Amino acid sequence: MLHAIIMAGGSGTRFWPASRAATPKQLLTLVGDRSMIAQTADRFGELAPPERRMVVTNRRLVDAVREQLPNLPAASVVGEPCKRDTAPCIGLAALLVTRVSGDPDATMLVCPADHVIPDTAAFQAAARQAERLVDESPGRIVTFGIKPTYPAEIFGYIQRAAPLKGAVGDAPAYQVERFVEKPNAEKAAEYVAGGDFYWNSGIFVWKAKTILDALGERQPKMLAHLEKIVDAWGTADHEAVFDREFAAIEGISVDYAVMEHATDVAVVEAPFEWDDLGGWQSLPRRLGEDAEGNTIVGKHLGVRTEGTIVRSTDDHLVVTLGLKDTIVVHTPDATLVANKHDEEAIREVVKRLGEMG
Ligand code: GDD
Ligand code: MG
Repeated sequence: MLHAIIMAGGSGTRFWPASRAATPKQLLTLVGDRSMIAQTADRFGELAPPERRMVVTNRRLVDAVREQLPNLPAASVVGEPCKRDTAPCIGLAALLVTRVSGDPDATMLVCPADHVIPDTAAFQAAARQAERLVDESPGRIVTFGIKPTYPAEIFGYIQRAAPLKGAVGDAPAYQVERFVEKPNAEKAAEYVAGGDFYWNSGIFVWKAKTILDALGERQPKMLAHLEKIVDAWGTADHEAVFDREFAAIEGISVDYAVMEHATDVAVVEAPFEWDDLGGWQSLPRRLGEDAEGNTIVGKHLGVRTEGTIVRSTDDHLVVTLGLKDTIVVHTPDATLVANKHDEEAIREVVKRLGEMG
């Protein structure tokens, strides 16, 4: 049986000023008519009904997440006291699923909260295939590979080896040769040219036991802190123990902590379209452009405006006049007007403004 875990503690600074400390990217509605996290949960459907879903996020986002996912039992939204990246988040979820939810043999489907996957049926079929690959070889870690289109430095890369046997209708699946997290530009170019590398989609399927064993081997201190937290779960001093033990963990992502060292890894070539919305410039890709190359959300009048991205609301008019290759984002208390070519520097801006401005 699958337990679906949503990792939702990221900050999404590149979507400032829509994305803030209290409403990061995963809580925003950027594409479609539901927030990223709500669409992620919707995508599970029958794979994992609400009682088998869990969200691990930052504590200050817990109320907002519960509001956006009202079908989830309140206890299934777990709030970390501080940000420690994805390895502790996953370890904690694995311990909670096996020890607190009482399914020691649980298989986990771990998903980022902020990806666009338009084809739900194809996603579910791939998740089922991954579940079968884990049933077949319980110590196996299953990843989903995306065919790379350019030498991105912001993704992990998965090199495939021998093909795995599958059933009729299955997507191609392979044993994994190696996993490299966020290579530099030179390496990334080499991998893309090689033709046998995929981008890591950031979605994983594994037995909770497999990931706990891996953390025990590679990150024993982290696991010890997490075990103390779960031992105190539901007791009077639970929160104090959570705060103290979690803060003592050294932050690291699961990609560096586990994936780069794991030996029994498979990759399913994702049979679904996948998009990791990286920032404002990914909106045209999803929402399309008008005849002048503009992508508009909300109330807008454009005169002599080209190649521009505007995001406002339906009750606030933004007028652009004589603008080219610009990003304009209106929110009630902050407005961004940026040259498209400087989008990367939004992170710099957010840093200067302090905690998500
Ligand atoms: N609970 C929790 N706590 N969640 C977190 C934390 C944390 O401290 N940090 C990040 N997350 C969540 C984010 O909200 C996101 O949904 C997911 O975990 C992945 O984190 P990112 O920070 O977005 O990772 P990344 O995009 O740099 O890299 C990962 O995803 C890529 C694909 O999008 C890696 O797995 C790469 O290998 C992969 O290619
Ligand atoms: Mg990401």
